[in-house]
This record gives sequence, structure tokens and C-alpha cells, in this order.
Amino acid sequence: MARKKHIELVRDGDDREVSPLEKRGGGGGGSAGDGGDRGTGGGDGWQAALRPRSFDEYIGQRELIDNLRVSVHAAKQGGWALDHFLFAGPPGLGKTTLAHVIANELGVNLHVSSGPAIDKKGKLASLLTSLGEGDALFIDEIHRLDPVIEENLYPAMEDFRFDLFIGEGPHAKAMTMQLPRFTLLGATTRMGLLSAPLLDRFGFHWQLRYYELPDMRAIVKRSASLIGVAIDEDGATEIARRSRGTPRIANRLLRRVRDFAQVEGDGTVDGTIAASSLDRLAVDHAGLDSLDRAYLTVICERFDGGPVGIEAVAASLSEERGTLEEVVEPFLLQVGMIARTPRGRVATAAGFQHMGLVAPSKAPTGGNSPQGRLF
Ligand code: ADE
Repeated sequence: MARKKHIELVRDGDDREVSPLEKRGGGGGGSAGDGGDRGTGGGDGWQAALRPRSFDEYIGQRELIDNLRVSVHAAKQGGWALDHFLFAGPPGLGKTTLAHVIANELGVNLHVSSGPAIDKKGKLASLLTSLGEGDALFIDEIHRLDPVIEENLYPAMEDFRFDLFIGEGPHAKAMTMQLPRFTLLGATTRMGLLSAPLLDRFGFHWQLRYYELPDMRAIVKRSASLIGVAIDEDGATEIARRSRGTPRIANRLLRRVRDFAQVEGDGTVDGTIAASSLDRLAVDHAGLDSLDRAYLTVICERFDGGPVGIEAVAASLSEERGTLEEVVEPFLLQVGMIARTPRGRVATAAGFQHMGLVAPSKAPTGGNSPQGRLF
């Protein structure tokens, strides 16, 4: 199989559509992250520059990386195209980064698009026919693919074949195009919304986890060194602890803290400047931002700790239900501040305690929260 030395980004920015969820996913409800970056006109391109390019550079998600190493190695050795892989998890955990790393390790081109961007069969046809032998195609937010378009993806995934009709009406002719062997790398924030036939066609799927504190600290230190910011152990720990186990958030907070260190200190990020800047940016000691806290407040105070339906919470906050489900809730569930019950969301004793409120006796404890490991 012909292999390319460098990753070539095809249609990045062209086809790629960044959802509001993804934009907020790295930042926080109008707090430190996205607002600040938009303010400097920085966009998110700088995040790409911090991405690890190889398995060796990739910090965290150890089991996944080890599995991928084996599959990539086998595909290179055997000369076959890597199986189609699906990555699931909240925004900012590295699904796109993994696609870049895999393509780079395979030595093939990565073509990037997203479910909502492929809104016509013709767009899918053009994406698939532009693939080279062995290339990787990354489809972000794959759960948002139109069902009709999704069906056209099945023969492409299974038999590297694309069926189309030339002409219209009774004179239309069915044609089959043979595609090069390629690897589909899918990403989703909502595994549950993926249709069973699509899920079946992936050779492997993996739920990405929030990163634990030592990995987050290592990511912060690596990013600081890449952007030329002096940081000590306490500074890195403080940023890591408040980044919700999410590298994209850590990188954004690092840049904001760097601004404070530069303007109000001597440029070095230590524990004191990191803590005071993050306080001022409304990111609390557990990494909750203003939207997370507003969400908890609504459940604890307005709905007496719940159970309450997600629609009622969304309406109270004037927020999209999807943002709450995909961005806010996964982390609060992970740290045991809320729980999902058949009758709705409930705040746990840990959730009440975090908000400085007294928990009613009915509040669940939040179980064996992995909070200790994350922070
Ligand atoms: N930057 C963002 N995510 C990263 C990761 N997992 N490893 C290293 N650097 C990163």
C-alpha cells in the first residue's frame, strides 16, 4: 500500500463544522475558556499546535493507546487498511487528536469532516472518492449524520463500494463505484444516539475517560513548555485540578493564567497566581464553571434536590438541553455531584455540599465517586 509521509489535511475548515457544544466544551459557561479566546481573536488553531503527533507523545488513555498501537502495528505489518474505529466521550478529551495521531502513525492522509457537514449524498460521494489507498476519514459528531446518508456509508465501510444513480426517473442508471480501502474514524459525544447498524460496522469502539490528575498535570506541563511558559509543580497542579479532567480545558486555562502571570506577576505560573487567576475567571477549585454551578443551584434550590426532568432544568437555565446532556452532566455525574434516576436528575449530598448547601436527608450520597482520583 502506498503510504504518505505526512498528514495532509483535506477540507479541514471546509467541511468541518464545529458545534456550539464543542466550542463550549473546552471553556466553560461564558467563563474563562471560549470567551477569552474569542476576545483575543485566537480561535482554536493554537490547540492543534499542542496536539501530540504520535503514540509516544500522547499522555493518558493508556489502555486505548496500547490497543491502538497493536492494531496500527499489525495493519502496517500486514499491509491492510486499519479497521474502522469509533471514539466516544465528552468534548475535549482528544477524539480528533487521536484521529490525527493514528493517521500520522499509519503514515496516511487524514480527511476531516463531520456528521452535520455531510448533508447531501453528493458530499459523501465527493469525500469518499477523494480518498487515497489506505487513507483515514475522520467524521466528527457521527451521530448527527442524516439517516439516508448514513445508509450510503454502510457499503463504503463494508465493501469499499459506493452505489449511486446517474440520471433521474425511469432512465436512471444504477452504478457502483469501487473505493480505495480506507479507515473510517468516527467520533461521537452521544454513543447512545448511534444506530445499531452503524455501530455494528465499526471494528472497535471505545469510550474515552476523563483524564486523571497526574496525566492532566503532565499535559499542562507539556503545553506550557510548547508555548514557552514557565510553570512550577504547584502551578501545573492547580490548573490540572480545575480542568475537569479535560485537556482542551487545561490548555485554555493555561493560556488565561499565563496572561495573569505576565501582566500581574513575573511571567512564571506558580500555585498562587494559578489559583487566584482561576478564582477570578470563575472556575472553582473542582473545575466547575458558572454554568455548572447554575445547573446545580437550580436542582438544589429551585427543585429541592430533584428528581427533576432535564427539560425543566434546561428551561430554568435558558440553556440547550443538548449542552446540559453532553457537556455539563457527564462531568457532574463522574464526580458524583448529581445522579440520574428514572424520575429525573437529583443532586447528591456531594453536590449540595459543593454549593455550600445543607443536603436534605433524601439526597443520595453520590456513591463511590471517583472524584478523589480526578482531583
Ligand atoms: N494535549 C492535549 N491532549 C494531550 C494528550 N493527551 N497528550 C499530550 N498532549 C496533549
